[in-house]
Amino acid sequence: SARRDLAGRRVVVTAGGTREPLDPVRFLGNRSSGKQGVALAEAARARGAEVTLIAANLEVADPVGCGIRPVSTAAELQAAVIEEALGADVVVMAAAVADYRPATVSESKIKKQPGEDGLTLELVRNPDILAELGHAPHDGTLLVGFAAETEPDDERLVALGAAKLEAKGADLLVVNRVGWTEGFARDENRVVILGAGGAVLDRSAGSKMSVADAILDVVARHLGGEPD
Ligand code: C5P
Repeated sequence: SARRDLAGRRVVVTAGGTREPLDPVRFLGNRSSGKQGVALAEAARARGAEVTLIAANLEVADPVGCGIRPVSTAAELQAAVIEEALGADVVVMAAAVADYRPATVSESKIKKQPGEDGLTLELVRNPDILAELGHAPHDGTLLVGFAAETEPDDERLVALGAAKLEAKGADLLVVNRVGWTEGFARDENRVVILGAGGAVLDRSAGSKMSVADAILDVVARHLGGEPD
């Protein structure tokens, strides 16, 4: 893209999926590949932004020309985002962050228990990083959330997104439909971009790069003032 509409802007993107350790060799994870977040980082860079990518277990190569902060757990991602969000013009929370983590992390590999048919794991809630950022004062930082939903009905999908935007205090929310064969790890994506009050600002379907540019078109329109 020849647009340089993000020149002078600091953009932070989280991408990938967090992993919550159970023991030294196991984790609870998710199927997020990081492709959409990496495409957003690359597209923002191409439009002139200074980009930091907070990268959680990416299955794709790091984008060139971006600062990379590798993280693995939700707690690590949270610490990195809080640091990087200071002075950022835009924070895009594209990473799939685990809602829960194991209550305890075993020091040694968890063994099969002889005679036991099952194993019960106790989980505790992780902080909602986006909601914490959204409910803290964030003047001058546009906060963009994502919502991956399995809801097949478009109207209900948009309603879920609108409720999430409100609950998390995000400025923009990108909703995409995911399932066994959609969304995660794919090269294409289909999204609805919501703004204040849950208004549908745009829809985009296609390569994750073209979806990234559609999201950044909305972001660029929403950035106030002049870059410093
Ligand atoms: O509630 P849900 O997980 O669907 O929300 C998704 C959005 O919230 C994404 O932008 C994701 O990065 C963010 N999130 C977060 N912290 C969590 C869970 C999700 O920041 N613990």
